[in-house]
Amino acid sequence: MAILDVKNLIHKYIAYEDSQDESQEIKEEIKAIDDISFHVEKGEFIAILGRNGSGKSSLAKHINGLLMPTEGAVYVKGMDTKDYRNLLNIRQSAGIVFQNPDNQIVGTIVEEDVAFGPENMGVPSEDIWKRITRALEGVGMSAYKEASPNHLSGGQKQRIAIAGIMAMEPECIVLDEPTAMLDPQGRRHVLTLVKELNQEKKITILMVTHHMQEVLLADRIIVMDHGKIVMDGTPKEIFSRVEELKKLGLEVPYATELAHELRKEGVPLSEDITTREELVEELCQFV
Ligand SMILES: Nc1ncnc2c1ncn2[C@@H]1O[C@H](COP(=O)(O)OP(=O)(O)OP(=O)(O)O)[C@@H](O)[C@H]1O
Ligand SMILES: [Mg+2]
Repeated sequence: MAILDVKNLIHKYIAYEDSQDESQEIKEEIKAIDDISFHVEKGEFIAILGRNGSGKSSLAKHINGLLMPTEGAVYVKGMDTKDYRNLLNIRQSAGIVFQNPDNQIVGTIVEEDVAFGPENMGVPSEDIWKRITRALEGVGMSAYKEASPNHLSGGQKQRIAIAGIMAMEPECIVLDEPTAMLDPQGRRHVLTLVKELNQEKKITILMVTHHMQEVLLADRIIVMDHGKIVMDGTPKEIFSRVEELKKLGLEVPYATELAHELRKEGVPLSEDITTREELVEELCQFV
């Protein structure tokens, strides 16, 4: 069974106009998700790409029931997110990490913060301590367990937010631009951690990102535009479609772009080059 099954998902936001009388008038309807279907198998690492406003965050929020489908359905391990009796189980199975770590920290000390999720799940207290220890070790933040989150860097806070999710022991973690507010070092730490969670702990990852280097960590890329999925494939498949990506307002990795330009000039390079090493290797065959 797929860990995640999205079926003909449509989500409309309704913007209301404030009016003097009590009844609110509908101002406009925004179709943020426009009939999306896809499956995710356990253990996959998927990057979700798309220009601003393409519906990435709206999709992410459906995966653990923070948003409900207007039409269609989302199933997490077969559980329909629309059935409120499933919500606790769903939130245990699929955790979500947002862009801004400041909005996700609830505790006044680190270990309290990490305990928040498992406490709410009703995990017995001796187990909570074990989970906190494991989660903080996992994100490399054990030394800070008694620190105040306010004194941590953005990257460290984001690792604490991830530890809070890990302590709930989910099978799937959704990350919505987790590195957007971090400096390069913070980004590197968080990405290394996400990759480890996928490869070593076999946690299914869906990561929304704008950064091409981050996209290359994934084994599958879903590209969204205007609320629809417009591409779905491996990084090599996706990045061989340079012109289409540009039309969708997306960049491609530098090596891919250069190889594309050289191909246009008649240099016979492969279409699936994504790294500098691959480009150098192919170019070296000509000298
Ligand atoms: N709470 C909301 N109320 C009304 N419209 C919304 C709301 N949240 C998002 N939208 C609209 O839905 C569409 C999709 O937004 P969403 O935030 O999902 O896109 P995104 O791909 O995550 O964008 P970004 O790259 O800027 O984060 C946009 O047109 C956005 O303006
Ligand atoms: Mg977003």
